[in-house]
Amino acid sequence: MIKVAFYDTKEYDKPSFEKYGKLHDIDFRFLETKLNEDTASLASGCEVVCVFVNDTVNKDVIDKLYENGVKLIALRSAGYNNVDVHSAFGKIHVVHVPAYSPYAVAEHAMALLLTSVRRIHKAYNRTREFNFSLNGLTGFDLHGKTAGVIGTGKIGRIFIDICKGFGMKVIAYDPYPQKESDIVYVSLDELFKSSDVISLHCPLTDNTHHMVDSSAIEKMKKGVVIINTSRGGLIDAEALLEGIKERKVGAACLDVYEEESDIFFEDRSGHILNDDLLSRLISMPNVLVTSHQAFLTEEALNNIAETTVNNIVSYYNKDGLCDNELCYKCGNIEHCKSDRKERCF
Ligand code: NAI
Repeated sequence: MIKVAFYDTKEYDKPSFEKYGKLHDIDFRFLETKLNEDTASLASGCEVVCVFVNDTVNKDVIDKLYENGVKLIALRSAGYNNVDVHSAFGKIHVVHVPAYSPYAVAEHAMALLLTSVRRIHKAYNRTREFNFSLNGLTGFDLHGKTAGVIGTGKIGRIFIDICKGFGMKVIAYDPYPQKESDIVYVSLDELFKSSDVISLHCPLTDNTHHMVDSSAIEKMKKGVVIINTSRGGLIDAEALLEGIKERKVGAACLDVYEEESDIFFEDRSGHILNDDLLSRLISMPNVLVTSHQAFLTEEALNNIAETTVNNIVSYYNKDGLCDNELCYKCGNIEHCKSDRKERCF
């Protein structure tokens, strides 16, 4: 039986993981706590740890897990910015779920955009109190507007198709453009200058950290709508707040926030929120915040569990590749994945 310490468990995780775990004789130790330096020892007796986006998997944690005999870190997310893949190299294999439902995230981005530009969130609250006034609810048509999509991977491309379905013009920026596609690529500066709506669909890396900062916002159109369903660290939230206060940014739709790890996914109602910046953003009438929810569909949860379990099983199949391994060997963690013939080390 394979024993797996499953950190940051939520009720909605259990059914699908139990279902796929049973098929492969995997015993999940469901832990509510997040993984960090203090909780790494809870994995003792398990060769595998399963983590999510707000678990801390830095060098210290990796060293502790390694000392405790952990051999595999199975991320149940696509993004892996919280894992020090470099420090794991040679010690612990790291696998992730590259795609579970890119539709879930792209559709959530559009849901946020529509809610924001048609003021649905305000209308919903009003009519619940039998306030049927339309004052202040004027929106704008998406048809004919320009969407700027940053990152044209799995999610970005679906978002592009959705935007095209609404009759939007789409421009995009990606340092690795899709070959043989009809996507219109422009420079990042051109995208900032020309877009009515900007949606972020690239990973958080050293290069993309705070790619939306005050100088980027300065280049943008007045009234621009910024959507972030990717990672909070892509946006300098202080600069975003300034942009909103100066009426430069028309609206922000945020499913992620740089300092979300101790806040999102938990019920904080009834508590005083110790994050003035987030409180101020949420208090703005033109800011919509969801709590890293874009992935949360039935289809995605099922696919996450199935792929994670298959990744774990592939690790124990010693002859084969380790499915969906994130490998630091050549320094190009993901882009050599398709050519890889053997596991990372
Ligand atoms: P993907 O790997 O298919 O695509 C990412 C794209 O970003 C690639 O085309 C890559 O070339 C591009 N890219 C890399 N560096 C860039 C840069 N400096 N500027 C612009 N583009 C750059 O990833 P996928 O599946 O489309 O996911 C995108 C991101 O969405 C993930 O990195 C993750 O952070 C986030 N995500 C958020 C979820 C949520 O629940 N809110 C759920 C799943 C993913």
